[in-house]
Amino acid sequence: MAVSSDQAEGSADAGLISRSHLGIEPFEVRRPASLADAAAAVADGSWAHAGGIDVAQRLRAGEAADELVPLCSPPTSAGTGLEVLGEISLGNECLFVGAAVTHARIESDPLVQAHRPDVAAAWRTIGNVRIRAAGTLGGNLAAFHPGYDAAPVLAAAGARIVVAQPDGTLDRCDVADVPLNRLIVGCEVPLSGRVVYDRSLKPVVSVAVGDQAVAIGCAYAQTVVIPHGATNPEDVAAAVAALSDPTDDAFGSAAYRRRMIEVLVDRCLRTHAEPVTSAGNGGIGAPPIPPALPSDAPPTDVSSRDGAISAAHVEMHLNGESFALAAPPSEMLVDTIRARAGLDGTRVGCDQAVCGACTVLVDGMPTASCSTFAWQADGRRVLTIEAAGVSADASALDDVASILPIVQGAFAESSAFQCGYCTPGLILVAAALLARHPDPDRATVCDWLDSNVCRCTGYLMVIEAVEAAAAAVRDRGGADLEDTP
Ligand SMILES: Cc1cc2nc3c(=O)[nH]c(=O)nc-3n(C[C@H](O)[C@H](O)[C@H](O)COP(=O)(O)OP(=O)(O)OC[C@H]3O[C@@H](n4cnc5c(N)ncnc54)[C@H](O)[C@@H]3O)c2cc1C
Ligand code: FES
Ligand code: FES
Repeated sequence: MAVSSDQAEGSADAGLISRSHLGIEPFEVRRPASLADAAAAVADGSWAHAGGIDVAQRLRAGEAADELVPLCSPPTSAGTGLEVLGEISLGNECLFVGAAVTHARIESDPLVQAHRPDVAAAWRTIGNVRIRAAGTLGGNLAAFHPGYDAAPVLAAAGARIVVAQPDGTLDRCDVADVPLNRLIVGCEVPLSGRVVYDRSLKPVVSVAVGDQAVAIGCAYAQTVVIPHGATNPEDVAAAVAALSDPTDDAFGSAAYRRRMIEVLVDRCLRTHAEPVTSAGNGGIGAPPIPPALPSDAPPTDVSSRDGAISAAHVEMHLNGESFALAAPPSEMLVDTIRARAGLDGTRVGCDQAVCGACTVLVDGMPTASCSTFAWQADGRRVLTIEAAGVSADASALDDVASILPIVQGAFAESSAFQCGYCTPGLILVAAALLARHPDPDRATVCDWLDSNVCRCTGYLMVIEAVEAAAAAVRDRGGADLEDTP
């Protein structure tokens, strides 16, 4: 299994199996030196790269970017002013959430939980574990996708968005007025108030009702905000009646959407006074902050201009061993793992961050390796399913790796697979879950496994295998494993 740095560096011509990156136009990756630098670059047409999920998909779909400006990889260093992008803090009558904060952190951060549990609960419904681990507040807003959840929830909460002008000065605007080509720095959510969010009819319509505003997602080209809220239901009803015709498409006719807007607004208004309910006993939780990995390499600067793809020095800890390579900027992590490292237990399915077949753990968090560039793993700990076979010496790896063989054994004993194509991804997600929640309830197990698609096994056996593994993890004396939020 082990691949030395030399082997890795020498395998730059390895055949790549995903191939979706081959259609990507050449681009550069440049790490910003400061907040003003990042703001100027974005204003000048460079693409901010936060979680990078949409960026990867847009590039694969044929859009071209001259330059990517990473905001998250590696974590922004002290003294640059970029740290604010990763902050969650209390400000003047508001909660500040930085643009590069992941969905997973928002759903479980103690400050968000304490001051806006409604917002945390809404965030917990986003996508799946991999999307919540990688996707960010800023990326969600700046995608300007009518079906994404950040805009309606924040608009109904009365949040203000903080954007940086090209010279680095900060402005504030409403959610509906976020400008194109400006760096989003974060958002300021009022400390008081309550949002009830109903996304049960996505992708037809979603509705968020706050004290002073109602926001409607999915039903129009962009989020529609009504400047009346739960404190004024008559005005809300009048404004809903006066809305223009919603989108008419394959998901729903305009008439159906209009009726469903009324239904959801009414339902949200009625539940606005009820307490927030919890969805299971364990959210994803914030990614652990990994200790710095030893590396002599300078910060990676990668370039693929002028036709010839030049390579970036990337150094990750792959299954406990240092793994260095020269990777073109557009190389996906799944190709690095399968073709360069020869670890073909990582599968490729949808190639769109949907099915979970390509899941690996990056710093312990489930990650869609089909939609993550190799350079995003620079300086990170990456675990693949092969770690289940090398984790006897768990000290070389980590808690998650030491759980992997237990989960693998439980899958075998529970016959929780048939063809096995989806199994590596399921086992890795389950191990990440049990590292955080050794005693998960069934809702939490389902929440974590939600989007790992299996075409042949009944999911019940998979769930039972995870529950058996949880019991085994607790039995082995994993007393050091605390259930963390
Ligand atoms: C399978 C799947 C399911 C999903 N389900 C949901 C869901 O249920 N609800 C939901 O809300 N979302 C969903 N998403 C979207 C997801 O939550 C992410 O928010 C989204 O993919 C973008 O986040 P990101 O951090 O990866 O952004 P990126 O891909 O890094 O960026 C997205 C866009 O925003 C720009 N950008 C990024 N950061 C900034 C910034 N700070 N300032 C200015 N521009 C910036 C980028 O240049 C790019 O144009 C889903 C995505 C997938 C693939
Ligand atoms: S192949 Fe990556 S999520 Fe489907
Ligand atoms: S066991 Fe065949 S896809 Fe899951």
